[in-house]
Amino acid sequence: RDALAVTWTPAGTGPDGAAAIVGALLTPDGRADPFPLYARAHALGPVSEIADGRFLVCGHAAVDRVLRDPGFGPAARPPKDPGGAAGGSPSMARSILWAGPPDHGRMRSLISQVFTARRVAALRPAIEDAADALLDGLAESGADGRPADFMDRFAFPLPVTVIGELLGVPAADRHRFRRPAADLTEALELPALASPPGAVHADGPAGAAARELAGYFTRLIRERRAAPRDDLVGALVAARDAGDGRLSDEELLANLVLLLVAGFETTAGLLGNGLAILLDRPDVRAGLRSGEIEVPGFVEEVLRYDSPVQITTRVARTGGLTVGGLPVPEGGEVVLLIGAANRDPARYRDPDRFDPSRRDVKPLSFGAGPHICLGNGLARLEAAVALPRLLARFPEISAVPGAPRTRRDRLVLRGHETFPVRLVPS
Ligand code: HEM
Repeated sequence: RDALAVTWTPAGTGPDGAAAIVGALLTPDGRADPFPLYARAHALGPVSEIADGRFLVCGHAAVDRVLRDPGFGPAARPPKDPGGAAGGSPSMARSILWAGPPDHGRMRSLISQVFTARRVAALRPAIEDAADALLDGLAESGADGRPADFMDRFAFPLPVTVIGELLGVPAADRHRFRRPAADLTEALELPALASPPGAVHADGPAGAAARELAGYFTRLIRERRAAPRDDLVGALVAARDAGDGRLSDEELLANLVLLLVAGFETTAGLLGNGLAILLDRPDVRAGLRSGEIEVPGFVEEVLRYDSPVQITTRVARTGGLTVGGLPVPEGGEVVLLIGAANRDPARYRDPDRFDPSRRDVKPLSFGAGPHICLGNGLARLEAAVALPRLLARFPEISAVPGAPRTRRDRLVLRGHETFPVRLVPS
């Protein structure tokens, strides 16, 4: 029996049950504003049953526990990955994101050996330069008080540029990644709940994107073998070739594609969600500019309040597991509402209020446990560099009356599609 057992709600059905909440989350209104639905989920308790063998988890402690429990893992990789089998190229399905033990640990230890905190910290000057260059472009497109699109001109290009720098992709090639990375992001979305996770349909845009990226990285790997370099691709190739056979060629490719895709829309989402706060809360903007509000605390609170990743799922690898005291059968699925856990009233006082002065903020936005986001340090650094620079450059940046920002119609990845801003007062 675990401590959460007392609050388990057995009734998944009915207008107020967990199944109705999941159904509502899948509607356009639910996707646009999931937070009232999260409040309804909290009213049911940290864990509720959706249907036989499927559970909805919204409590902070419960989501954290499932993510750390080695008994639960990402849904098993499909025996035949359509993206790979039909398209002749591996999609991300063979990457760490969907791997279980022992493959996950084997691959992850090798990748973290080269994707280190030191390598991330060393990227700071490159992030600053990239942000400044993009701010120049933003200024140009917003000259004379014209509206400029923050997402198109800044939030989407910055992460692609930074990941390109990290991986060692030549600057001239980086613009080529934006579209395929966006197309492949489909594989991270909720259809992943229904179709095999990580699999992409070979004849759709995501299949074409997987082939394009795999082709590109295959060439880059060949180049690094011929002429070693100390970028991430070069370092991974060297580690891979060290002779202990810890990473197959196919896995190397799948993980490179994952690294490109995983940090793209997520980080763009964080930048746009952060800007939304700055425009909606003049007090927060003033506090950041005066130094009263510290940048890291601001970034953590943006992550908590409006997480770029709202949901993940887990499957019970074995029988005999429980969640919230409920027995989960082998293969039973658990839907983890990260965005709701971040607003759990049992964990945060007044959770729907953005408050950068909170102490002990531990958002689950990067997950937890063995699959915790490998790029979390990089994403935090990008936001901490970019948003204050934006404010310093355009202290009077504002929304454009009559030109509303639009959200991407997605549930798992929460961010804006367009975000018109005026850089100087008109
Ligand atoms: C995994 C969120 C940026 C690389 C994850 C997971 C989450 C997440 C929630 C865990 C998924 C799960 O357990 O089901 C985010 C957010 C980001 C971000 C919110 C930006 C704000 C990045 C960046 C990179 C990256 C910049 C790399 C350049 C990865 C990788 C994994 C991962 C490789 C798989 C780790 C594993 O399975 O062991 N991310 N991510 N992410 N992320 Fe991120």
